[in-house]
Amino acid sequence: MKYGQGVASGQPGTRGITLWTRVEGLDRTSRLQVEVSPDEDFRRIVARNDVMAEQARDFTIHTRVTRGLRPGEQYFYRFYTCMDENSQVGRFRTARPADSREPVRIGFFSCQEYGSGFYTAHAALAREADLDLVIGLGDYIYERVFERNPIRSDTTGANRDGEVQTLPEYHEKYNLYNADPELIRMRASHPMMAIWDDHEVEDNYAREKPGEATRQVRIPFLQRQRNGYDAFFDHMPRIRVRKDPDQIFGRIGLGGSADVFLLDQRRFRDDQACGDEFAVPCGEQDDPGRTLLGQDQKRWLLDGLAASRATWKIVGNQVMIMALDVPRGNALNPDQWDGYAAERAELLNFIRDRGIEDVSFVTGDIHTFFAGNVSPTGRQNEVRLPEAVATEFVGGSISSKGIFDQAGGEGGRDVTAFPSDQGVFINNPHIRFSNQSFKGYGVLEAGPEELRVAYRAVRTTQARESEPFTLAEFRVARGRPEVEVVRAPTTGPQPLPLVP
Ligand SMILES: [Fe+2]
Repeated sequence: MKYGQGVASGQPGTRGITLWTRVEGLDRTSRLQVEVSPDEDFRRIVARNDVMAEQARDFTIHTRVTRGLRPGEQYFYRFYTCMDENSQVGRFRTARPADSREPVRIGFFSCQEYGSGFYTAHAALAREADLDLVIGLGDYIYERVFERNPIRSDTTGANRDGEVQTLPEYHEKYNLYNADPELIRMRASHPMMAIWDDHEVEDNYAREKPGEATRQVRIPFLQRQRNGYDAFFDHMPRIRVRKDPDQIFGRIGLGGSADVFLLDQRRFRDDQACGDEFAVPCGEQDDPGRTLLGQDQKRWLLDGLAASRATWKIVGNQVMIMALDVPRGNALNPDQWDGYAAERAELLNFIRDRGIEDVSFVTGDIHTFFAGNVSPTGRQNEVRLPEAVATEFVGGSISSKGIFDQAGGEGGRDVTAFPSDQGVFINNPHIRFSNQSFKGYGVLEAGPEELRVAYRAVRTTQARESEPFTLAEFRVARGRPEVEVVRAPTTGPQPLPLVP
């Protein structure tokens, strides 16, 4: 028996955790056990569950441990049978109690196309000390190979071309990604909650409407979407919600310092505005009534933000909520919140009008590091108007390439990325940090007086090992939605000075 995709934990509660593994080499549904201990050497066992590796779910195991755990404590776990060797050991921390004022540390990452690079950034994320949670912000898998010169091959799918559509093909894709040793290490090291973006099904799909990335359509889109959704839940450490088994949005309370709101920005959205064309203004993106979240999820989010008693409200957001303009006032990308401007205004006006403080969005999707201030229009000028009501941290990508390393490779990327970063600053005064060169992830610490965010990057993803470094550090003071750049690269473009 082998645990080729490692172990994982998720859905941390004050007295509960969801544990996951996948067993290779079985030919039918089989019984195992999992044990949980406060010590790494398992001297004292506080919980033990009988678990089933289900054939129908690709021999994955999902079990909820709800006994023997105390709030805010670190635990270790492993799976075993009496006849075989144990699984790897995983680690998690239960959620801190609601009255805790201790700082909460959260990692966030997105976009890990397998062929685009090695998971050197996951090796670094795995080593981050004592994270309460890691949030996967989407594009955990890519439904086909987008990299033109893959550094490692992805031959999943019926035609061995990386393009997956059936349930067994999606399973194969997750098993390929999850067998990566660095990703195994990361998943074992911290509890993780992933939300999907589009590539977990198909590039740029919207609700029930397919995107246009598929080269060879073999099955109807709705069937494919079902397969993509089912495989996602099979390979993630989370138990499905009974009322709506495809629901991924939800709140994770991590104590008095942070509530995490995780969103779904694909399943309920209206189709992308303006034919999903880049930088082609058509006015449609401002139409009232267009929705990214859908009515039920939006209501849930507004109510949840208003009711939250935690100091920091961290919103796990797939697509960027700040505007990204070229030139000024002209939104570049209708796939992000810019294409749903009326709903963005509704959400941010609600935050302002209700006096909800200390909301910060963490975001994936765009394979770039950005940070900045979020106003109801998504924009701010040099005199900081309209006033910001929240902040946003867009945390780069693990391996998926951006426009510039796609075109110029890592060697030449600064040469092309620097002028582009400069353009971002000139056209978007609300964006206080832009780096389109490096791959990596974010780590935030939600404390009683301030939110601290670090962007961690690796020098290269084209080798298995690379030294991680801190690309930039930020601070947001409580009650003041303004990204302060504490540390940034000393070379390269700088943001526009704002009138204080
Ligand atoms: Fe992506």
